[in-house]
Amino acid sequence: KILILDFGSQYTQLIARRLRELGVYCEIHPCTAKAEAIRAFRPRGVVLSGGPASVLAEGSPRCDRVVFELGVPVLGICYGLQVFAAELGGRVDQAAHREFGPATIEVKATSPLFQGLPATLDVWMSHGDRVEALPPGFEPIAATASAPYAAVEDRARRFYGVQFHPEVVHTPRGKDVLRNFAYGVCGCSGTWSMRGYAEAAVEQIRAQVKDGHVICALSGGVDSAVAALLVHRAIGDRLRCIFVDNGVLRAGERQQVEDVFGAMFHLPLVTVDASRRFLGALAGVTDPERKRKIIGHEFIAVFEQEVERLAAHGARAKFLVQGTLYPDVIESVSFRGPSATIKSHHNVGGLPEKMNLSLVEPLRELFKDEVRQLGLELGLPEAIVRRQPFPGPGLAIRVLGEVTEERLAVLRRADTIVQEEVRAAGLYEKLWQGFAVLLPVRSVGVMGDERTYESTCAIRAVESTDGMTGDWARLPYDLLARLSSRIINEVRGINRVVYDISSKPPATIEWE
Ligand code: XMP
Repeated sequence: KILILDFGSQYTQLIARRLRELGVYCEIHPCTAKAEAIRAFRPRGVVLSGGPASVLAEGSPRCDRVVFELGVPVLGICYGLQVFAAELGGRVDQAAHREFGPATIEVKATSPLFQGLPATLDVWMSHGDRVEALPPGFEPIAATASAPYAAVEDRARRFYGVQFHPEVVHTPRGKDVLRNFAYGVCGCSGTWSMRGYAEAAVEQIRAQVKDGHVICALSGGVDSAVAALLVHRAIGDRLRCIFVDNGVLRAGERQQVEDVFGAMFHLPLVTVDASRRFLGALAGVTDPERKRKIIGHEFIAVFEQEVERLAAHGARAKFLVQGTLYPDVIESVSFRGPSATIKSHHNVGGLPEKMNLSLVEPLRELFKDEVRQLGLELGLPEAIVRRQPFPGPGLAIRVLGEVTEERLAVLRRADTIVQEEVRAAGLYEKLWQGFAVLLPVRSVGVMGDERTYESTCAIRAVESTDGMTGDWARLPYDLLARLSSRIINEVRGINRVVYDISSKPPATIEWE
């Protein structure tokens, strides 16, 4: 396995993704990791990420020098290369002209890092400083017209540094460079797979839970589903899954959860119909943050009640399963620190402390696409595995203005049409999300010879890789036309359909 030390680059996660795609297990730790932690990880190789700082600046981030004393290969990327130079006796200076964007490098094919690659490579550069003098033992293995040290090596100590970013798609052969490092230089075998992961996770869950009881808030999404299946595999019916029908689900959603997890997988599943309670609490509320808070609050209350009920039947849970993914973990240990809250996200946060529950987080090491792979491995149907994300506060944040049964029913019908047509057009998996939003705006229309004065439906379709940023999807006009005509014709209460052409940022994906 490979240890990635993060110096705060926006690309650090990509390094991990590429290595994992190569079947190499890796973890990201902050560059401030202590020597003992680094040793205890027992890496076969270390990658030093890029970062926004300048090694010339006072107090700029460094890693513990133990990294250079482990006797394992080290690859420094961009800032990571400069850390080499600064720490091992080279010299870094501000470059006369900064290099941002595409560049072409001439490489020395005899270096293990560039084995099997052509003599010239297109790469992506993004740096202000550059290495002016190499530390003792290092030699250049690639250069651009303006930078003599685009890549360097100390073959004896197996230290490598690249000024460009092999992890981004703008370096087309970058993955081969990482492969050469991981397989060729570090001797990793590329056998990390989801099957192995599942077995190890099951063992780990057993060791953690022992003879305890575990509860899981099943949402119907892929993360909680995969987490629940793993725990079920590990401890059987000492797992209890709770699915809360909060009244703001989409059409058919509850049925699907019961069919898949109850009937098909035989998970011990309790459905709690709490729609009255949620809708009652939401009555008259129009402020988005208040809606979110209310739903979060009600959810915790309902969940707690259910857990108490189970406990009264002799199954007091000590553990809570959570589908935490690796990006969340990285976010909270990130060298850059967690980012600002734009919307208060609904999850089971707050529950563990309140109810004195320990967390079981079997997906902590995985990226979303790996969770999907694992889901397929465990036999989950495509419909769940490929499901687009659906927010915890559900349709309540897509019914703008007051949330009522009637308006929810209107939105459900429109949304079902969006789902059907997007799938029929073969675009469901290409979109991060595609859904309908019901606006609190009425406008005048004419149907037959009648004047209408009804609601507006907005369609939101977004392409994104992680939901953090995204662009509105260029849906074909034909599809938009079908959506508009079907929604207006089939959904009573809507007489106008508009298409949302805002990207994120500055807009967000959901409207509230
Ligand atoms: P925004 O609207 O902030 O959403 O651009 C980014 C992604 O997160 C989803 N989302 C949520 N997911 N609980 C969730 O589990 C929430 O409260 C929540 N709010 C938004 C949203 O659907 C999009 O994929």
